[in-house]
Amino acid sequence: MADLSTEFAGIKSPNPFWLASAPPTDKQYNVERAFEAGWGGVVWKTLGEDPAAVNVSSRYSATYDGFGNVAGFNNIELITDRTLEVNLREIEAVKKSWPDRALVVSLMVPCEEESWKKIVKQVEQTGADGLELNFGCPHGMPERGMGAAVGQVPEYVEMVTRWCKQYSTLPVIVKLTPNITDIRFSARAAHRGNADAVSLINTINSITGIDLDNMVARPIVDGKSTHGGYCGPAVKPIALNMVSEIARDPETKGLPISGIGGISNWRDAAEFISLGAGCVQVCTAAMIYGFRIVSEMKDGLSRWMDSKGYETLTDFQGLAIANTTDWKYLNMNYKVVASIDDEKCIGCGRCYIGCEDTSHQAIKAIAQTDGSNKFEVIEAECVGCNLCQITCPVENCITMVKQDSDKPYMNWTQDPRNPYRDAG
Ligand SMILES: Cc1cc2nc3c(=O)[nH]c(=O)nc-3n(C[C@H](O)[C@H](O)[C@H](O)COP(=O)(O)O)c2cc1C
Ligand code: SF4
Ligand code: SF4
Repeated sequence: MADLSTEFAGIKSPNPFWLASAPPTDKQYNVERAFEAGWGGVVWKTLGEDPAAVNVSSRYSATYDGFGNVAGFNNIELITDRTLEVNLREIEAVKKSWPDRALVVSLMVPCEEESWKKIVKQVEQTGADGLELNFGCPHGMPERGMGAAVGQVPEYVEMVTRWCKQYSTLPVIVKLTPNITDIRFSARAAHRGNADAVSLINTINSITGIDLDNMVARPIVDGKSTHGGYCGPAVKPIALNMVSEIARDPETKGLPISGIGGISNWRDAAEFISLGAGCVQVCTAAMIYGFRIVSEMKDGLSRWMDSKGYETLTDFQGLAIANTTDWKYLNMNYKVVASIDDEKCIGCGRCYIGCEDTSHQAIKAIAQTDGSNKFEVIEAECVGCNLCQITCPVENCITMVKQDSDKPYMNWTQDPRNPYRDAG
């Protein structure tokens, strides 16, 4: 049986599945039930200075896939709306009862040294395992000079991180905002400020849709709306890319990363770990399906690791980084073409329409005597774009077949068709 135990930035947990800072972690009642369900750790809902934040009603909206499942989730909530004293008391009690679980406390206070100095000391006294600096909240708090307003300015990220490292002995995890052009700049700033780790992503600025009858975006607060923060399965590709950017960057290589964004099952978690994450955090999936999803996550990850012969998480952590490269280093001499399995094909024609109208006219529709069509790939025209495979509704009906080539690896920097190729 694979060993799922994790040590992330010096913080130990029995498995890599932590709940992200959000409503699932905003009180003792929730966190204790999460631990009973098996979560390895939590990042407590972001604490701030008193008086506590006040929230509006309503607060959430969503986008859905074709089957009615939540694809993306949007919220306009602020940080904790409970007093600091109540939160600190509950954090201390939970840590005492659950010493083997990771309990990290998320923080957001004004960008002033005294405010940070005071709160990190208060948190330290609870016995919590670490701090997470919320430089990512995209709504409400930036208008008050906090959250993403800090995370979008590398100099502020570095400065606040440095204060926290100076005034606290706890590991400091810097949570990054994705609402930025290049995530590497804020990760580098956190690294320069001596952060022990980064976590990403926080939510993405979003409007999920418009109520066209009332001409207002969702969620609606008395006929008005505002942009929120997007999360859930829809943001996973963006999060994975940002994690890989930091893992590959020579300036931040090796900096521990806690992967967040759309993680809903063990496979999502394994993907983040393969790109270098040392643990993962989950919010939306727990909000939609409840705390018990962690059983399937732990079980699935452990079974998959057994099937691959990985005994610990570090056996496969980061293995996909070296295979994630810049476009210019891809092999120009590699070629695949589509192949249709006639036995599986149901003759819907979707591959043909896609390729004919928008790709390379590389699929022939051959009329049959019974009025149906047979679809055939014209190999010489196929550029191997994958569109038909993506469009085909039948699993494994279209496969992409590697073409034999005696040409050696040649990337764009070496390609004679590139007028700017490396000289020599
Ligand atoms: C309702 C809600 C409230 C959130 N509140 C916080 C917060 O207080 N602090 C924070 O750092 N992130 C907060 N987040 C962001 C999550 O911690 C997480 O970064 C984001 O949801 C992406 O993960 P997911 O796709 O698993 O939901 C919140 C998210 C949601 C949905
Ligand atoms: S892979 Fe692209 S070019 Fe080739 S048949 Fe499919 S859609 Fe057409
Ligand atoms: S999309 Fe798939 S099932 Fe439909 S015609 Fe093409 S190969 Fe056949």
